[in-house]
Amino acid sequence: MHHVVIPEINSAAIWRDKARAFLGAGTPPDHILWGETTIAPDLFATPAHSPQGGPVSVPRSFISLAEKVVWHSDPERFARLYSFLWRLRDAPHLMSDRGDADLARLRQMEKNVRRCQHKMKAFVRFREIRFERANRRSFAAWFEPTHNTVEPTADFFARRFADMDWRILTPKTSAIFEGGTLTFTQGQPKPDLPEDASEALWITYFRNIFNPARLKPRAMQSEMPKKYWKNMPEADAIPELIATAPARAREMARAAPTLPPRHMAGAQAQLASCASAWDGPSSALSSAITACTRCPLHRNATQTVLGEGPVDADLMIVGEQPGDMEDLHGTPFIGPAGQLFDRLAQAAALDRRAAYVTNAVKHFKFKPQGRRRIHQRPNSSEINHCKWWLEAELAQVRPKLILALGATAAQALTGNGAALMSRRGTVEKTPTGQPVLITLHPSYILRQTDPKASAAAETLLVQDLKAAMAMLA
Ligand code: URA
Repeated sequence: MHHVVIPEINSAAIWRDKARAFLGAGTPPDHILWGETTIAPDLFATPAHSPQGGPVSVPRSFISLAEKVVWHSDPERFARLYSFLWRLRDAPHLMSDRGDADLARLRQMEKNVRRCQHKMKAFVRFREIRFERANRRSFAAWFEPTHNTVEPTADFFARRFADMDWRILTPKTSAIFEGGTLTFTQGQPKPDLPEDASEALWITYFRNIFNPARLKPRAMQSEMPKKYWKNMPEADAIPELIATAPARAREMARAAPTLPPRHMAGAQAQLASCASAWDGPSSALSSAITACTRCPLHRNATQTVLGEGPVDADLMIVGEQPGDMEDLHGTPFIGPAGQLFDRLAQAAALDRRAAYVTNAVKHFKFKPQGRRRIHQRPNSSEINHCKWWLEAELAQVRPKLILALGATAAQALTGNGAALMSRRGTVEKTPTGQPVLITLHPSYILRQTDPKASAAAETLLVQDLKAAMAMLA
């Protein structure tokens, strides 16, 4: 019997290496006892020398499944993964067998981990801690995730909060980001973190977005489970807001204007379209967008896809909404449209990394079709709700030029929903006067079936990208 102890830090890589070695050497699952660092050694077990095995080939879909499942809190996770991997050797089709109970269990675990990562991105609340002589601002957060999600989620925070030092402390693993370097250490008991000025802002923000007329305590608790409340300043306001919601909703109904429905709809659309930008602190903007539930799209998307890039960029590139890959990875423009954009940007000598890249709508809208998720265009209401965040990003980045990729971005930025082709290559303005160069969306090019039309569209997009570079020169 081999006894393998996987440490809490770097578990994914260590499990993968061990599993590959055992698989290559033909070691069956019942000859291995997998454990975590904390498990007591088995008296009859031999120490974990990884056997020397031959090369193994593992389906990519299993690798991405395992990369999530290893962070699950189930102590049997390593053994479950290895047993399934063992079965896969002779039956590679198993990965697509919907009736397989082991796979279903692993998929459920993968989903739990993804959900936990999503919660972590939304509910970590940093408090400022002051270190004398420190030249960057420092923040710390205490968080109690259900699964071991600190390590796989830390990159997200490193990208979002690259300009500050921070640490996320948890009972199991803690992440420390100092001077741009991310490290992991063992967990710890709950520290005594200082009160922070932004706590009051979180409470004000939450009070403002809380709509008593739409109160659904069960949906609210499933989005923001109670276990996270104790570390979220705004949660203090929840019991009172719930208790007073019916009275406030009645009051709102009494005070509602009595316009005929047709005018009412127009007035509401106008109100939504000129919703003022979010006025919280810029350090909290990403977390606020991540936690957004302003429209129903957040319900089915895996996660909010935030903008990325320098927040003092001269150029802001705005797409429509994340696609399937962006939704899974949490990064804009990495799928086929993003790859095409990168190729054309290179032809125009446009360095995407110097630009701030975001989307008009921050959640993926799709229709499930079998195992595929088919992209759906966001409607005006979804665009208007998300404009709140786009405007906040515009106010934060204050780019010299905005590039609108496609009709949705053009509509969100200028308020003009007219057809795109006659506007492409022209410069319009946002309501606050920022210049917007209108161009094609790379997905439009990908949809062309005629190679000539596709090449012509590529030429137009490259031409517009070059024009953008010339305007900024
Ligand atoms: N299409 C978009 O508009 N944005 C993305 O991030 C990806 C595809």
